[in-house]
Amino acid sequence: MRVLKHLFDNNKNWALRMKEKDKDFFLNLSKQQSPEYLWIGCSDSRVPANQIVDLLPGEIFVHRNIANVVVHTDLNCLSVIQFAVEVLKVKHIIVCGHYGCGGVKAALESKEHGLIDNWLRNIKDVYRYHQEKIDALKSENEKISLLCELNVAEQAANVCHTTIVQNAWKSGQQLTVHGWIYNIEDGILKDLDICISSLDEISKTYRLK
Ligand code: CO
Repeated sequence: MRVLKHLFDNNKNWALRMKEKDKDFFLNLSKQQSPEYLWIGCSDSRVPANQIVDLLPGEIFVHRNIANVVVHTDLNCLSVIQFAVEVLKVKHIIVCGHYGCGGVKAALESKEHGLIDNWLRNIKDVYRYHQEKIDALKSENEKISLLCELNVAEQAANVCHTTIVQNAWKSGQQLTVHGWIYNIEDGILKDLDICISSLDEISKTYRLK
């Protein structure tokens, strides 16, 4: 017996609709993928990369985890970045956070959540770097929103500090790292004016010769 039948029905209808618009859509897509973008976003079900930027399958390479964190020892995330940059030759890496992020919110609390607290530690570190600025805000919501934004900036910087991105820039590859944030309440993306496209723009501490 097939379980979750409604999902298979949805899938069949979706595939039909896609083929109605372009009968060779899947055939062409099966031959290659050449996305221009790598999206690093939160796993939150309300923040689906393709739908937010209205792109078709094949147009955006995606990595998602809780609170869009980029850790320099995370083989999963690093492998995605390496494949995207070195094989797919994406031109843009977008780190996209979102307001009201549960992971960011949890990182601001001292409540225990189990294993995930080890992951959220990365965001607690971001809080520690900017503690004065965040603590100065009055409401809890403002604090969470600011930490959501600062977390994007930190994770975008972490992308730039990887050997993968630094080597791409050194070899003259055109690659820009962006920091964006999404508002679940109105569906609108905001550019946080983070746009890094060369070695000179990153902190000397992390720059490798
Ligand atoms: Co989130």
